[in-house]
Amino acid sequence: MSQEEKPWGGRFTEATDAFVETFTASVSFDARLYHYDIQGSIAHANMLGATGIISDEERASIVAGLETIHKEIDEGAFEWQVGLEDVHMNIESRLVALIGDTGKKLHTGRSRNDQVATDIRLYLRAEVDGLLGKTRTLGDALLDLADRYADTIMPGFTHLQTAQPITFGHHLLAWHEMLRRDAGRLADCRERLNVLPLGAAALAGTTFPIDRDQVAAELGFSGPSENSLDSVSDRDFIIEFCAAASIMMMHFSRWSEELVLWMSEPFSFVDLPDRFCTGSSIMPQKKNPDVPELIRGKTGRVFGHLTATLTLMKGQPLAYNKDNQEDKEPLFDAVDTLSDTLTALIGLIPAIEARPDNMRRAAGGGFATATDLADYLVRSGVAFRDAHDIVGRTVSYAITEQKDLHELSLDELRQFHQGIQADVFDVLTLEGSVAARRHFGGTAPDQVRAAVARARVLYSVD
Ligand code: ARG
Repeated sequence: MSQEEKPWGGRFTEATDAFVETFTASVSFDARLYHYDIQGSIAHANMLGATGIISDEERASIVAGLETIHKEIDEGAFEWQVGLEDVHMNIESRLVALIGDTGKKLHTGRSRNDQVATDIRLYLRAEVDGLLGKTRTLGDALLDLADRYADTIMPGFTHLQTAQPITFGHHLLAWHEMLRRDAGRLADCRERLNVLPLGAAALAGTTFPIDRDQVAAELGFSGPSENSLDSVSDRDFIIEFCAAASIMMMHFSRWSEELVLWMSEPFSFVDLPDRFCTGSSIMPQKKNPDVPELIRGKTGRVFGHLTATLTLMKGQPLAYNKDNQEDKEPLFDAVDTLSDTLTALIGLIPAIEARPDNMRRAAGGGFATATDLADYLVRSGVAFRDAHDIVGRTVSYAITEQKDLHELSLDELRQFHQGIQADVFDVLTLEGSVAARRHFGGTAPDQVRAAVARARVLYSVD
């Protein structure tokens, strides 16, 4: 493309090197912002008209032209040109071709620097809203599942060793808490990104009598940004999003790891329907949990985008630098990966089928009620440290006898402490153990149901 055809060609005497043209172009990926670019341009044109910087006829012609372009792009009839570098100049140049010289007035009092910063904020705000909607759907699915499995006993682990019996519903509610905080981080990020950069122009603002409040109101921003240099330069809202997305993916990766473990033959705690699994090309018996494995795998790329955007920003002096063009691909991929992961989980979570017999069998092994026995002794007046020691010796005896605690006779138990009575067997059962943890935040089935109800109320008020 010759310099005369470029919007900034005036001061140049030779054509851009062919490689440099492609190297510096962003249209191959930022074309995705066209809807927001046009939305921002229409608001800008409306303000230019309202303030008398351009005439109302000019404003109307620009807005009509931009709407035509939007339709052309929607319909795939728009011809993107790498020589025009980015989404902004492609659209502006088409506007001039469509409506003539009036189109050249759109960029009055504006720069691509404040334009692109506005576009990304509009884009990310809409995406965050979509992600929050999906998060809520997933949260509802988790609550339904937790309610369904409020009484289902499974082993709780520390160090991946059987620790104490818990209910599966309680375990699922732990996932729900992670998700609830993740949603809060997304909402915080939305709040901070929702300010209008337009008006900052290249970096120092503009000499025209612009009305930034009008543009902010038309675009649904909470107000105009405070400082023109900061507005065109900082991408911390992208970093913040990538951080929130990374934490969310880290949680999903943990859930996935648990699902993969629980699906494995030695655990066999849950089953996933065939539609979420794939087979092996060599081993006919295999049914692999590919979806959770992929979620675990995709987490790494989102962490990568956080590192990439942090690194992108760290060496930049104020104000805008071309480095910032590199913000888009990581951001888009972080959004897409998180969005697809949420879609996958929204399908997967309600389809989880617990295998209560296997969970129960596993919870019964490993002396999972040893702490309950110690607590029992404490209630009969023994100090906890002494109770711990007594039960430790009881467990050691049970191991040599190859029995679990509840399989020992009352006489055998009384060898270790005379205060043990027949009612000890109530606390040594799995049901007794989980039912006893009936405080706020505990694993007892009643508490699980109460926590589900509290979470549902929370959803219904926000
Ligand atoms: N494509 C550029 C970006 O993504 C738009 C802003 C370019 N501004 C400039 N002065 N080169 O950041």
